Amino acid sequence: MTRLLHISDLHFGPPFLPDVSEGVVKAVSRLGPDAVVATGDLTQRAKRHQFAAAAEFLRTLEVPVVVTPGNHDVPLYRVWERFAGPYRLYRAHVSPELDSVCRLPGAVIVALNSTRRFTFTNGRIRRWQLRFADDAFRTAPPRAARVVATHHHFAPPPDFEGGNVMPGAKRALRAFKACGVELVLAGHMHRSYIGSSLDFFPGEGDSRGIVVVQCGTTTSSRGRGRERFRNTLNVIDIDSDRLRIVHCLWSPSSSSFVPVSEHVFPRGDRLYLEPSEPS
Ligand SMILES: [Fe+2]
Repeated sequence: MTRLLHISDLHFGPPFLPDVSEGVVKAVSRLGPDAVVATGDLTQRAKRHQFAAAAEFLRTLEVPVVVTPGNHDVPLYRVWERFAGPYRLYRAHVSPELDSVCRLPGAVIVALNSTRRFTFTNGRIRRWQLRFADDAFRTAPPRAARVVATHHHFAPPPDFEGGNVMPGAKRALRAFKACGVELVLAGHMHRSYIGSSLDFFPGEGDSRGIVVVQCGTTTSSRGRGRERFRNTLNVIDIDSDRLRIVHCLWSPSSSSFVPVSEHVFPRGDRLYLEPSEPS
């Protein structure tokens, strides 16, 4: 089994919640994931000290971290910096790579930078990034789960509040399906939802679609919708024949992340779960 811990929208800066971040460290220690996937918005305003704090936090997790920038990690008001070196501080403190590949036993994760220097909140995946993902997945072992991680969402939230997906989302999902992607992880919306790409783009691909997993804000006070002032993370277990996603919510009373829902999807050659699952 391969275990991923999916966190997002940390927002180091004024909205950051240190006590909740300590809960993330404890969750990583308790759950022992093979990797942590952080889907963007590490900072609130892309400031040097915010990146430094975020990078130090990720180091303390002491497991491989897959990370991608969010729109808050690009300077919003420092116009010259936004034009001349929008990712300079991100590269210096967090990762020199904006698009990356992480190969684990049982899974290959491709992180794609969906932010753009000339847009404020919207994202986009470029054609060359689809080729980058295809190249990475082409050499993956046949049974390894192919996973994409981005900041911006490919599927709108169920309430459609502020839910315009990024331009080209459908094209990207079609391309991901063609190279065997089973799972897409994203953030940006500050609330969690878990489902299938077929919920939003019916008829695309085969009858199983791509599992879409959105994480709310894990360590900030900026939760939205039903996760207003709430904090969440997802635990993802990848077995040879199924994906299991456990959505966890921060419990202030126990100072820990507790499971609130479980989602199981067949994988491999299976289109259906066994009648006995889940039990
Ligand atoms: Fe965010």
